[in-house]
Amino acid sequence: MGRLFSFSLLSFLPLLILFSILNAKPAKGFPLSTNSRWIVDDQSGQRVKLACVNWASHLEPVVAEGLTKKPVDVISRGILAMGFNCVRFTWPIYLATNDSLAFLTVRQSFQNLGLTEAIAGIQTNNPSIIDLPLIEAFQAVVSNLGDNNVMVILDNHITKPGWCCSNTDGNGFFGDQYFDPQLWINGLTKMATLFNGVTNVIGMSLRNELRGPKQNVNDWYSYMQRGAEAVHSANPNVLVILSGLNFDKDLSFIRNQPVSLTFTGKTVFEVHWYSFTDGQAWVNGNPNQVCGRVVNNMKGSSGFLLDKGWPLLVSEWGVDLRGTNVNDNRYLNCILGVLTELDLDWALWTLVGSYYLREGVVGLNEYYGVLNWNWGEIRNSSFLQRISFLQSPSRGPGLSERSLHKVIFHPLTGLCVLRKSYFDPLRLGPCTDTEPWNYTPQKILYLKGTYFCIQSNGLGKPAKLGIKCTNSNTRWEIISDSKMHLSSKAKDGTTVCLDVDSSNTLVTNTCKCLGTDKTCDPASQWFKLVDSTRSSTTTKSFLQFNPSLDLPGKDFLWKLFDSF
Ligand SMILES: *[C@@H]1O[C@H](CO)[C@@H](O)[C@H](O)[C@H]1NC(C)=O
Ligand SMILES: *[C@@H]1O[C@H](CO)[C@@H](O)[C@H](O)[C@H]1NC(C)=O
Repeated sequence: MGRLFSFSLLSFLPLLILFSILNAKPAKGFPLSTNSRWIVDDQSGQRVKLACVNWASHLEPVVAEGLTKKPVDVISRGILAMGFNCVRFTWPIYLATNDSLAFLTVRQSFQNLGLTEAIAGIQTNNPSIIDLPLIEAFQAVVSNLGDNNVMVILDNHITKPGWCCSNTDGNGFFGDQYFDPQLWINGLTKMATLFNGVTNVIGMSLRNELRGPKQNVNDWYSYMQRGAEAVHSANPNVLVILSGLNFDKDLSFIRNQPVSLTFTGKTVFEVHWYSFTDGQAWVNGNPNQVCGRVVNNMKGSSGFLLDKGWPLLVSEWGVDLRGTNVNDNRYLNCILGVLTELDLDWALWTLVGSYYLREGVVGLNEYYGVLNWNWGEIRNSSFLQRISFLQSPSRGPGLSERSLHKVIFHPLTGLCVLRKSYFDPLRLGPCTDTEPWNYTPQKILYLKGTYFCIQSNGLGKPAKLGIKCTNSNTRWEIISDSKMHLSSKAKDGTTVCLDVDSSNTLVTNTCKCLGTDKTCDPASQWFKLVDSTRSSTTTKSFLQFNPSLDLPGKDFLWKLFDSF
């Protein structure tokens, strides 16, 4: 504790450099468009993966949160240093349609809410912003993100400034007290026009979490199509992002009736997915079963869009980063598997370490925030490690440095299966160092391009590479409802699952939680075989750890082994 943010930034500098290489897509430059399920750079056609973080600016003060704690430029650089390339930046309709709100200064807005301490904080940290009108303060943040090569999605979160969302807050659906469709169209048009030509604004999401008693599919089509057309005609460069019904859980209706729009190549759907989307299901059920069921539901209500050739942005997901919420912890291990397997675009909730004012509480601590209360430290760096693999793309247009292979991802740690040499036990390490694996129809996990495969060696024993790849101890079934266990038979015939010991060495143990037990946690045994066409990002030679094998004779050596 007590690290200053500038120091944290320094310690993340290697990551920063890495990600500027990995994402290799400047925020400034070309607009984005869609190519089937992928979001791509208009000009090069190469995939741009959105790895965003939500930054709220839609609460009562209508000021981007955190500006009382740190200079905007420090926050922007921190976003990039933490591996995100994009911000989903929220705004209320009134910011665009109510001039007496839009032209309040930041100082006046805080004063009106009695937030006197906030005034002192913003005076210290962002003196150039304190006397700007709210709309210009909003623009200043977008502009600073652009200077730092961070892309922005402008998200219309609500109409009337305030915390969102409930079924009865009057902001839920077209026709609600604060949700006049025409005002909404006017607001979208105004915002799209204002940011036309601001190149780092790459998308606009039309409305957050449609909900409430008035929601219905017919109105969804008529208003969302109108909103989409309005945004596109005011600013044809941005991606137009459409959210579903029921708090943005449900887009199943698109299966029967596609959206009808005059433009193509710009439409993206978004979905929200939290642990509490399924109530307390995670803590009240067996994690394998709940993961299997919830993922199936998600595929039916939104994931199917990928197969239909639409990009899907998981624009809100996240957990209590203290790690004390079991419902969240179990969900996290499962959703990380899905986000990596489908290589989805996403936006984490949230950047925000604390709010100026939320639901009547001044300075509310946001335990879902990647920054801590004072915006000066990273709240939980192990969480950042766990999401770092999904911050870069695994596949997609233009990303084919290597032929299709598997990466073996371990959501509990965010690490991937690596080998140290051909003879040492396998272990987990940074996914950036990963080797290509091949999962054959016979269910053998080969180190791709070699005769070496993963073998189990009995209960509690390390898993190693071997060259006898036809026995039951080299056949890895994907089992359990979660489809995240890799199971084989040890030499003595017992069924075992791939697992990880406390030193991150791969071992095989008794498979966990295959029954209906609600108290057990299988996460150490959850792996995802992720399709990838990316090369490992390190420059290390393929055989660095065992140079003697890196000699011209290695092919001969492998063939020799195989003939045993
Ligand atoms: C416009 O904003 C001002 C300042 O916040 C507020 O007093 C007023 O009620 C708003 N008007 C509407 C129609 O919401
Ligand atoms: C970070 O999260 C992990 C669980 O993922 C938890 O065990 C740990 O205590 C958390 N660290 C902090 C500082 O909250």
